Amino acid sequence: MNELIQMLPKAELHMHIEGSLEPELMFKLAKRNGIELPHQSIDELKALYDFNNLQEFLDIYYQGCSVLQTEQDFYDLAWAYLKKAKEDHVVHTEIFYDPQSHTARGIPFEVAINGLYRAFDDAQEQMGISFHIIACFLRHLPEQDALDLYPEILKHRDKILGIGLDSSEMGHPPEKYQQVFAQAKKDGFKVVAHAGEEGPAEYVKQAIELLQVDRIDHGNRCLDDEILTAQIAHKGLALTVCPLSNLKLKVVQDLVDHPIKKMLKKGLMATINSDDPAYFGGYVNENYRQLAAAVGLTEDEIFTLVENSFKASFLPDSIKEIHLKALH
Ligand code: HPA
Ligand code: ZN
Repeated sequence: MNELIQMLPKAELHMHIEGSLEPELMFKLAKRNGIELPHQSIDELKALYDFNNLQEFLDIYYQGCSVLQTEQDFYDLAWAYLKKAKEDHVVHTEIFYDPQSHTARGIPFEVAINGLYRAFDDAQEQMGISFHIIACFLRHLPEQDALDLYPEILKHRDKILGIGLDSSEMGHPPEKYQQVFAQAKKDGFKVVAHAGEEGPAEYVKQAIELLQVDRIDHGNRCLDDEILTAQIAHKGLALTVCPLSNLKLKVVQDLVDHPIKKMLKKGLMATINSDDPAYFGGYVNENYRQLAAAVGLTEDEIFTLVENSFKASFLPDSIKEIHLKALH
């Protein structure tokens, strides 16, 4: 089974580039930029990677971002992820980044996007990995902050395909972001939102009805609502599921309890992704491997999940076809 997982070319659709910052690179960048980290060693930092919920993770994740200062830092961050993606036979990736977690620290908008874009563009040429970049709004901030940032995103629309919504879910329902999402949709951006990771099925419903999302990030809790689940399946709206993230953030108590089989049985277009691989214990293939071992995925189910990764991508249909044919 692990051989099959390794062998299949796949797409990854839910990966926060800041969440691929490995402790080793974090310390290296801190040193390069003269930044003092509150942790004395890599081991001391890794000891903190024991989370009870999303917020405990986010506090550590945003602190890690402080070492990202220059365009080269963002380039190096992306390049390190791309090397891992290549090893996992990822041939297309749609990554998230959080512009506000950098602009809020005084890092100009261009610095992050230019560094990231240059790395992904180089990798497309040198590693044959295609990509899209999705800029996420931090939902714990007021919608006005997103509206203020939006013109910068528009200015860089040649590099940014879509808009997402992430950070602390509880208490920050999708309805809070209707205005900026409506504008982004009107301007032709793809739109996605994290929903139903910790938040209720109602938030998934809002993401669909009020934000008109093209894909749902996580979406686990939609399963609490049978009618909603059937509607999502009927629409063919994809879920970007992140098994190791679900385990580490206690969305599931044990990987054997993961609802992936239920999702597939209900006809949901589920995909497998790594979310924040440096923090959650593995890149995309490790997510497939551990999930397959825990719930006993069949070869057919693995195949379906990999096929879904291309079907649910924002690639043009003609390119999707090429990737899907290559699987057979
Ligand atoms: N959930 C919400 N926001 C995030 C995550 C996540 O898993 N990772 C980075 N930002
Ligand atoms: Zn995520």
